[in-house]
Amino acid sequence: MIDAAGRTIDYMRISITDRCNLRCRYCMPDGITQVAMSEILTYEEIKKICTLAEELGIRKIKITGGEPLVRKGCVDLIGMIKEIPGIIQVTMTTNGVLLKENLKALKDAGLDGINISLDTLDHEKYYKITGTDACDTVLEAVEASAESGIRTKVNSVLQDAGDRQEWRTLVKLAEKLPVDVRFIELMPIGCGKRNTGVSNLELLDEIKKEYPDIRIDPEIHGNGPAVYYRIPGFEGSIGFISAMHGKFCNTCNRIRLTSTGDLKPCLCYGDIYPLKELLKNGTDDEIREQIKHAIENKPAAHCFEKPGEITEAHQMAQIGG
Ligand code: GTP
Ligand code: 5AD
Ligand code: SF4
Repeated sequence: MIDAAGRTIDYMRISITDRCNLRCRYCMPDGITQVAMSEILTYEEIKKICTLAEELGIRKIKITGGEPLVRKGCVDLIGMIKEIPGIIQVTMTTNGVLLKENLKALKDAGLDGINISLDTLDHEKYYKITGTDACDTVLEAVEASAESGIRTKVNSVLQDAGDRQEWRTLVKLAEKLPVDVRFIELMPIGCGKRNTGVSNLELLDEIKKEYPDIRIDPEIHGNGPAVYYRIPGFEGSIGFISAMHGKFCNTCNRIRLTSTGDLKPCLCYGDIYPLKELLKNGTDDEIREQIKHAIENKPAAHCFEKPGEITEAHQMAQIGG
């Protein structure tokens, strides 16, 4: 479908749970209220929404959370969505803690890509950020995923000046491994509201000093807003998701589905288009109309630069990034 701003909407991000086995301090602090399991969509309901959304032009699906792999049967869901004719790509964004043991099954289910969150390779820092001592486990998952041949990306948020130098070791991951290492600017959503994030403009300048031959890579690496660069001799690439310093809303191609069945057209605004009640008591036509409605009403751009205008009240873990 084409939205009111002329953008083709062909990508849906689905949060299958708001639960997570980590507690990243910018995303999911202690004390966050979790929705009851009875409130979340069943896999059959998610598949139905994907089937109807496909009829409206959604071709690519991202499975997120919370942490998708903490929900039982997540691998089966990937297989179920892959069966829908017209869905050409299903990818997942995970914190990587449970990835290694699920990797083969995910690959067998047909998963097309995995994005793994890893903000530092320093054990102490990792513990401070996530509240868990899983740095090595996640790094092993990154290596295993890359070696398995699945397109693998690393997501790194550098939260403040103290994390800034983490880029040095993270960039080196792309030297030996065919992974895209992406730096994401901290967004003022949920706990990220006390925005102290590192600017990608400054980061790129710093990386250029160390790697003067770094060059923009015109190749398309995914469906997201990242801009990619290549460093000669590196197996992988370096990407930048510059939510604060590089507005990418004019090429936005996505809608979001929360674990409780609300469609969200934009990350910045609280508007929701509920589907759960329609799944229980409505018709396919009514569900399709609601999806259409959400796409038609997608805001033209986010308002991160004017924090007072952000109406989104959820934490990132509830929206799915
Ligand atoms: P692929 O490259 O196709 O895997 O997609 P992606 O980069 O969108 O996936 P991922 O789930 O890894 O998201 C990376 C970061 O981009 C997360 O921090 C998301 O919150 C952010 N992001 C994804 N979509 C949007 C968007 O529409 N707007 C903003 N501001 N951020 C987004
Ligand atoms: N700003 C930017 N990225 C965030 N993520 C979670 N919260 C924020 C935020 N406020 C990232 C995670 C994960 C991805 C899905 O979203 O680090 O890599
Ligand atoms: Fe969990 Fe991802 Fe949020 Fe960290 S950023 S708490 S891994 S959902």
